[in-house]
Amino acid sequence: MKFTPEPRTELIVGHFRVITLKIQVILPSVCGEVTRVVPRSSRPFLRTSFFYAKNLEVSKLDLLEEIKKIEKEVEEKFENVKDLDQLEDLRVEYLGKKGKISQIFSKMGQVADEKKPLVGKETNILKNKAQKMYEEIKAKKEKELKQKRLKAETIDITLPGAKVNVGHKNPFTHIIDEVVELFLGMGFSIEEGPEVENEYYNFAALNIPEDHPARDLQDTLYVDDEYLLRTHTSPVQIRTMEKQDPPIRIIAPGRVYRSDELDASHSPNFHQIEGLVIDKDISFSDLKGVIAEFVHEIYGEERKIRFRPSYFPFTEPSAEVDVSCNVCKGEGCSFCSYTGWVEVLGSGMVHPNVLRMSGLDPDVYSGFAFGMGWDRIAMLKYDIDDIRVLYENDKRFIHQF
Ligand code: PHE
Repeated sequence: MKFTPEPRTELIVGHFRVITLKIQVILPSVCGEVTRVVPRSSRPFLRTSFFYAKNLEVSKLDLLEEIKKIEKEVEEKFENVKDLDQLEDLRVEYLGKKGKISQIFSKMGQVADEKKPLVGKETNILKNKAQKMYEEIKAKKEKELKQKRLKAETIDITLPGAKVNVGHKNPFTHIIDEVVELFLGMGFSIEEGPEVENEYYNFAALNIPEDHPARDLQDTLYVDDEYLLRTHTSPVQIRTMEKQDPPIRIIAPGRVYRSDELDASHSPNFHQIEGLVIDKDISFSDLKGVIAEFVHEIYGEERKIRFRPSYFPFTEPSAEVDVSCNVCKGEGCSFCSYTGWVEVLGSGMVHPNVLRMSGLDPDVYSGFAFGMGWDRIAMLKYDIDDIRVLYENDKRFIHQF
């Protein structure tokens, strides 16, 4: 109980001294008047002083002031809120279940009855105001955040895009796509063989005798006494005849290796496309027909073709095929060594020994084979005068095709 010293009145009434004090009782919101009555002389029944309270009431003023105070706080804090997290904290602090505004409602019981409607109304006004402010600021902050994000994520569609480093087909791939399509159209299928080949398939089975210069260490990259990096795609002929009965019509594109120094026209690794046809009654004119089709399709209708007698141990008779030079149209230039012709492939009728070694009877079956430099096709077709550019994969070069 807190006594306020003033105003204080004292009255002498008969035997009593009556002291009246304004007090605040228990709660700061409760105030009123308490009167202390003190006996002036000792009487057995009035030994001690006693109190009685008057005008005690719960002050409406205090709650209304509190409402005002909270309203001011709400205005200030909500206006200065920095972000949505802070706003949420404020929501809990003021509008939450145990928030400051709810607390006013819970004090309502202490409000004098006649003041209750006013305090209730004011509290509701404050609550609605705070709720509205909260919602408005929330919407504003969310909008700001969205705009900030949109701005950060803006794509300037007028900016040139970052260039993606797209790959490009090497002329090799263009060639093989064309060649494969052409031969598939003529009823051929595609075969493959190992690049590390044994001596039998690469040489012996192809009727290449022990002392043949092709076997020379100078030409061949040996892995050990038996295995080597295949020097041509012709071993695929043997592998195919061994596993497949005639009729056989295959092409076999692939990598081959020779112990050559790298220069404008040689590479220790290059590519060939092998061809093999085996059936009954296959003659040289079939070979000529297929080659003519190939040359005209790949190099152009206007190209002339020349079959020049040659020698390969695995074909008999053998022929090298030349096409008229595209650079000088057959007149003779440095590209064709002033002959008017460029060599494109080796070919011939499959040697009876090769058929026999592969388990085919040369009296029943005959066939032809051809082998062409895949790199050479690309060089002749695209007038490339240096084999090395095909292997360097310089983008400036391959993007031209
Ligand atoms: N293999 C031979 C070479 O590499 C080419 C060829 C293949 C010749 C088939 C005739 C028949 O030169």
